[in-house]
Amino acid sequence: MKYDLLFINGTVVTASEMFDADVAVKDGKIACIGKNIPLESAESVVDVKGKLVLPGALDAHTHLAMPFGGTVSADSYESGTRGAACGGVTTIFDYPVQHTGDTIMGLVNQKKAMLEKEACVDYATHVCITDLNGGAILDEMEEAVKEGITSYKCFMVYKKENMMTDDATLVRMLLRAKELGARINVHAENPDLIDYYTEKFLAEGKTSAWYHYMTRPEFVEAEADKRAVHWAKNLNGPLHIVHMADKEGLEAAIAAKQAGADVTIETCPQYLEFTCDVYKREDGRNFICSPPMKGKESQDALWTAIKSGDIDIIATDHCPFQSYEKDWGKDDFTKVPNGCAGIENMYPYMLDAANSGKISFSRAVDLCATKVAQIFGCEDKGSLAVGKDADIVIYDKDKDFTISINNMHTNCDHTIWEGKKLHGYPIQTYLRGQLIYDNGEFVGKPGMGKFIKRKPVFR
Ligand code: URP
Ligand code: ZN
Ligand code: ZN
Repeated sequence: MKYDLLFINGTVVTASEMFDADVAVKDGKIACIGKNIPLESAESVVDVKGKLVLPGALDAHTHLAMPFGGTVSADSYESGTRGAACGGVTTIFDYPVQHTGDTIMGLVNQKKAMLEKEACVDYATHVCITDLNGGAILDEMEEAVKEGITSYKCFMVYKKENMMTDDATLVRMLLRAKELGARINVHAENPDLIDYYTEKFLAEGKTSAWYHYMTRPEFVEAEADKRAVHWAKNLNGPLHIVHMADKEGLEAAIAAKQAGADVTIETCPQYLEFTCDVYKREDGRNFICSPPMKGKESQDALWTAIKSGDIDIIATDHCPFQSYEKDWGKDDFTKVPNGCAGIENMYPYMLDAANSGKISFSRAVDLCATKVAQIFGCEDKGSLAVGKDADIVIYDKDKDFTISINNMHTNCDHTIWEGKKLHGYPIQTYLRGQLIYDNGEFVGKPGMGKFIKRKPVFR
């Protein structure tokens, strides 16, 4: 038996340690990790001397080709996953949104039909439930979990957009998820407060991007975070709070975790890099996403929780819109489609934080890969260990890189990350042992990605 591929002389990074070792791959799986694996034991040898060997990241929060804000998000399944590959992401989780009457498997199968043609990396879905279809959804969840759909999303906002789940639905979803080993993700913001402030500011002629933030300040998110945490705590329900951005809500979620509640917390690079001050800029509309970036105090609290381990994962909430679409709201923040790009930037950004000593490389790997796989039941993903998928990123700690729309691989024509300087950058990405990104070039093929059938997780 010969290995297909052998990485020699690299430093392997796991969520708990870093060590010098060779890594051998056979049939898309990691077959051996050890010292001095003979070169002749492999068909192909890659010398990664001086480089880090990392697991591919899992981006647990993307919105590709999503109808939203009067348009469709700018990245197709193909272009979004191409960008993912070039940023070291080997699995994405997309969010199909239910319209009244849709079944879970109907939505999943629609997504799968497109992703199996277009996806350049592996994929899973969290299904957004907006209506229980008279309880049929709760019944269907059992079958869907068996099909590997083990996470669902409830929007606590977007009432006017008909995407909001009310508390009664959220509670039922949490209880059902607990029975089935599934998890409920929430977007936590209070829609009534947002509507109140929006009406007030529009009436006062306050329409700049700054008022996107002012209609959704810290306490608007905190109220919903606390409400979701309250249900999770008292019903012992499995809750995942997506794109956490505010200190008060974060503290409530951490306190619940410490008291034993099954609460996991996700934040995104945009909240770690930018504050609400971006909405004062001339191009502030390009940064409009929900929840908005918050003040420095919240940002500091997010970094503290990242360092302490209280934040579980990083994801992107990748939902870009073209400049001309963002421009619809040049003079009125309510007309800006909400969302920003990040799928290609998440792992390099967090690894840069590790390279500068802000966090360890193992912590970056845990946040972007290992813990994501554990929380969402991806048994074969997220770590460099024998038997796992050979999703591997080779990282050059010495490579300087300045993010620009000109060196990104997605479809969008601008990025909030323009000009951001990173020290260290991924130079290769392998998906199940196949090279899909090589020194700035996408070298994979649409359709290479496969559906990840996930396992229920009982805690
Ligand atoms: O602004 C955002 N985040 N757009 C995407 C939809 C969502 O709320 O996650
Ligand atoms: Zn959201
Ligand atoms: Zn989102």
